[in-house]
Amino acid sequence: MTQIKIFDTTLRDGEQSPGVNLNQLEKLELAKQLEKFGVDIMEAGFPASSKGDFEAVKKIAETVENVTVTGLARAVKSDIDACRDALANAKKKRLHVFIATSPIHMKYKLKKTPEQVIETAVEMVKYGKQFFDDIEWSAEDASRSDLPFLAEIIEKVIDAGATVINLPDTVGYTMPREYGAMFKYMKDNVPNIDKVDLSCHCHNDLGMALANSFAAVENGATQVEGTINGIGERAGNASLEELGVALTIRNDYYPYHTNLVLKEIKRTSDMVSKFTGMTVPGNKAVVGRNAFAHESGIHQDGVLKNAETYEIITPELVGVQSNNLVLGKHSGRHAFTDKIKQLGYQLSEDKIKKAFIAFKSLTDQKKEVTDDDLFAILTDIQTDTSNVKRYTLEGFQVQYDTSDKPSATITLITPEGNKINQTDTGQGSVDALYHTLDNMIAEQTHLTDFQLNSIGQGRDALAEVHVSLIVDEIEVSGRGSAQDVLEAAVLAYINGLNRAIYQKRVNATVK
Ligand code: KIV
Ligand code: ZN
Repeated sequence: MTQIKIFDTTLRDGEQSPGVNLNQLEKLELAKQLEKFGVDIMEAGFPASSKGDFEAVKKIAETVENVTVTGLARAVKSDIDACRDALANAKKKRLHVFIATSPIHMKYKLKKTPEQVIETAVEMVKYGKQFFDDIEWSAEDASRSDLPFLAEIIEKVIDAGATVINLPDTVGYTMPREYGAMFKYMKDNVPNIDKVDLSCHCHNDLGMALANSFAAVENGATQVEGTINGIGERAGNASLEELGVALTIRNDYYPYHTNLVLKEIKRTSDMVSKFTGMTVPGNKAVVGRNAFAHESGIHQDGVLKNAETYEIITPELVGVQSNNLVLGKHSGRHAFTDKIKQLGYQLSEDKIKKAFIAFKSLTDQKKEVTDDDLFAILTDIQTDTSNVKRYTLEGFQVQYDTSDKPSATITLITPEGNKINQTDTGQGSVDALYHTLDNMIAEQTHLTDFQLNSIGQGRDALAEVHVSLIVDEIEVSGRGSAQDVLEAAVLAYINGLNRAIYQKRVNATVK
């Protein structure tokens, strides 16, 4: 069995999804979860892109132990220097440097001739080699590049010291057979190709990302890049959980294995969805809510007689618990703390205390507290940046009448510790609340997206709201969960505001 190395880029390409904005603590928690999931390499960010990203990559590099951590760099010295500094304390590190190789990118974006692109690529790999033994070189837009030119530049960057060659389908344009043929061409035409790992990186614009990844593997790729839940630029990247499960379920067909720990899939997927605000569609393969639901009578009958009639993946394989009913009104602190450990959270005493209070207040409204509810409470508290001055909601009231404009009254504690109170109206209840908040805060805020979901099922399910905001020109997302949808909406808005304040502080403190 050949090992396929898994390169996760949820924290870099995934974070490039429109509207996604993770804070440092969320990135760190995700990195720890990706380590549990068993990825071989994680791309923690693009250190030269922002101070926040630099700091996040640095923190992840200092924390993660068993995974190679990499950072992305354009083919310029300052980007490589930023990766060198951010990854300085990593146990295992890699530089990921890229330059575009397609005619359209070289001519219009880089404004370089093919010869100049070769020269830059070689020079930058040599430069990076002073600091990194392991260098991945990516030919951006490889799938629309001229094959003999690609072979020539690959041979030269390998001579310069590249250890991994990545051939992305940057715009999700290729068809599987075509993409596979590109890998075969390189295998056949680059004399030193066997010195390196060949890697694929597929975008999903035509829905081919996973099929293309398999085509690459069939033709010699030993590394697959992708993201959790398939998030990423535009239509996203190949979905790693789908890849891992497909290789396991079809191990009769494919002689490949990965180090992925499949029972961590559900947790990893939930975390990505919660942090990014990108809800997983119900029909999404492997992690969708309906992935294991059998609706038609014929199917249900078949599954009852023998599950394998219609079920090729068991929920347990991917960590979906069939019965996740856990704690209730009478559960004490001890049972709660045990459950936290069982769910894999490591929280400080202070955060456990906060979580217990939140749990108890939930049991006043909800008889059965499920793992999904706990996940919402614990993850929010785990990634809470409460050491930074912030807005705190003290209380609110909404007046709604079908014949009149709704009005909202909010009491808020400002970051300076002042209690303020205001009333305003809006087109609907949420608009009235947001309008009122806008009039109370110092920041200029613009709402660009609002999503409401339920956590779990039933009338007493928690509501979760995700918002995207621009706060004083900083793009942030915010989320809030509560049993009441309006409370979840207010909490999400305030969470977004607080994240902008936190982001401003990170930007100001990092050199
Ligand atoms: O899609 C792409 O080409 C990329 C590269 C930077 C690897 O993300
Ligand atoms: Zn990409």
